[in-house]
Amino acid sequence: LSKKVTVPVPRITDRKVRKLLLCGPGPCNLWPSVTEALTQPILSPLCDEYFRIMEDIRNGLKYLFQTQTDLVLAISGSGHAGMETVISNLIGPKETMLIARRGIWDERALNMATRYGINAVEVRIPFTTTFNLEQIEDELQKWKPTALFITHGDSSTGTVQNLQGLGNLCHRYGALLIVDTVVSIGGVPFFMDDWGVDAVYASSQKALSGPAGISPVAFSKRAEMKINRRKHQPPFYFDIKMLAQQWNCYGNTRVYHHTMSPPLMWALRRSLQEICTRTLPMFWEQHATITAHFCKRLEQNGFELLIPKAEDRLATVTTVILPKGYDYKEYITYIRDNHNILLFGGLGPTAGKSLRIGIMGVNCTRETADAIVNAMIDALKNLKKCSL
Ligand code: GLV
Repeated sequence: LSKKVTVPVPRITDRKVRKLLLCGPGPCNLWPSVTEALTQPILSPLCDEYFRIMEDIRNGLKYLFQTQTDLVLAISGSGHAGMETVISNLIGPKETMLIARRGIWDERALNMATRYGINAVEVRIPFTTTFNLEQIEDELQKWKPTALFITHGDSSTGTVQNLQGLGNLCHRYGALLIVDTVVSIGGVPFFMDDWGVDAVYASSQKALSGPAGISPVAFSKRAEMKINRRKHQPPFYFDIKMLAQQWNCYGNTRVYHHTMSPPLMWALRRSLQEICTRTLPMFWEQHATITAHFCKRLEQNGFELLIPKAEDRLATVTTVILPKGYDYKEYITYIRDNHNILLFGGLGPTAGKSLRIGIMGVNCTRETADAIVNAMIDALKNLKKCSL
């Protein structure tokens, strides 16, 4: 053994980690049943139980995305892995991807696309607003892209994009429609088939109240045809053609591709069951009602919402402006230390300009919403305004 490489001393003791109410834009706390699911047995990637879990996950995802497509499965990795899978499988080098940019995730998509040699072009709007069909049609006409990338719920801005009519519009111009639903899925209505969405990815750690690390994706028939015709090779790890074989998407293959994490698979399966038990319409309604109550109480107590139009506000993540003179970091720390609630500051275009507060999944209750507002009022009273 090298004298310079010794047994490391742990920097953290398990017992000292404080449990917080996670009310940022994600991760969210876990359903108790999901915590339990994480301790289920580890399975080999070719046994029957493993394939049954995958089948349960695929069926749950079809319900979640509201789709009858065959090409639905989960990617090993966080939401970014879903983003990378969708972009790299659908669009080849030198093809054009149009990005409807209003938040940080669109910026990430641009970064990824550029790395794959894709011609990434963007249309931008102020980050407190959402797109209308006319703005997008002009750009589709101009660029004739292979695909349009758009974010449904944007956790960096707290906006929700209306997607109705967008699929038809894209298809009229020969473009595929790619949608990021990381922070909207489960908490906000989404209809993959009815809205003509061609590729969608989501995450497990937001309204699904599971751990990060496994990301649902789905592709329409139109997208599948494009993938089957493509000339380029996506990364091996994200190759959807190979993953479809592993996930038995067409009912005739049980192939080994890579070793997925059984605890994450058990967890995702359980999160989906929690949503199926509640039903999507009921869960969507719960998010809309609780967040509307939260916003109303915030406004009654002198807070300003960042997003001016109510119809643009996301039901899972709310962006809030603090009264002048308060320091965002200090404010968040005070609430964490005195109320055990974790809120987040802004990100990307909202950095230093707002709080981002997530009330979703297992945390989507009136009690949580009230506890956050009460903590926020207390922090206003107890923190001195910094010098202006
Ligand atoms: C992460 O998803 C974030 O919104 O901060």
